[in-house]
Amino acid sequence: MYLVMIGPPGAGKGTQAVRIAWQYGIAHVATGDIFRNAVKEKTPLGLKAKSYMESGQLVPDEIVIDMIAERLEEPDCRSGFVLDGFPRTLNQAQALDGVLAKLTLSLDRVILVDVPFEELVNRATGRRVCKDCGANYHIVYSPPSKPGVCDRCGGELYQRDDDKEETVRKRLQVYVSESQPLAAYYQDKGILSRIDGNRTIDEVTEAIVREIEALGLASRGKK
Ligand code: AP5
Repeated sequence: MYLVMIGPPGAGKGTQAVRIAWQYGIAHVATGDIFRNAVKEKTPLGLKAKSYMESGQLVPDEIVIDMIAERLEEPDCRSGFVLDGFPRTLNQAQALDGVLAKLTLSLDRVILVDVPFEELVNRATGRRVCKDCGANYHIVYSPPSKPGVCDRCGGELYQRDDDKEETVRKRLQVYVSESQPLAAYYQDKGILSRIDGNRTIDEVTEAIVREIEALGLASRGKK
């Protein structure tokens, strides 16, 4: 099963993508996570991406597209993936079609997680992430048992640089101008599912799973 998760910053794409990937045994490919790791490790990719990410801008298409083309060739993606954070521009969406065609694959579904903008600011500014394992928390909606400490590995929780309110608002503007047109692109292809993301995390997962099952997508994929 080959899925894409789209939606504004803080909508819950990452939270849901992790759950869907785990439930169906497919790869979770998150461009934001790949870039954050590259920045942390100070790799050439990280050095190129850092300033764009810190200011809430998109990393230039050519950098992202090359990176994702390489990632999708890895063996864990053959039997299925959920892409989280890519594509984010029409140019990226068209490039993805080309990359998949070369791999003789095509997308089964694009899931748009929809959440009102004011709620997105609350979600992003309240997010905390584990420095060690990357687990995601929210100080109100899904707090760790002990403040500042990861339940899963005991690592320290931190706030992402781009989760300060001013940068979140900038990211929302960029979403409206660059990424919102993707919904119409995939709607025209007949593969878009809109999911109301303004519910609890479990309710959103249930809605996505219901959609996957209703469309009979779970069994698709190359072995
Ligand atoms: P990226 O990391 O992809 O950021 P994003 O798309 O802005 O998405 P977020 O990670 O902020 O939010 P999310 O929707 O995954 O929500 P989450 O599940 O974490 O990208 C970061 C940067 O990298 C970009 O700004 C750009 O610079 C660069 N980049 C990445 N991809 C790129 C690309 N393709 N092209 C160019 N540049 C690219 O949830 C948010 C919070 O809400 C969490 O605290 C969570 O616990 C909580 N939450 C989730 N769901 C719910 C719920 N239902 N109810 C209550 N709380 C919830």
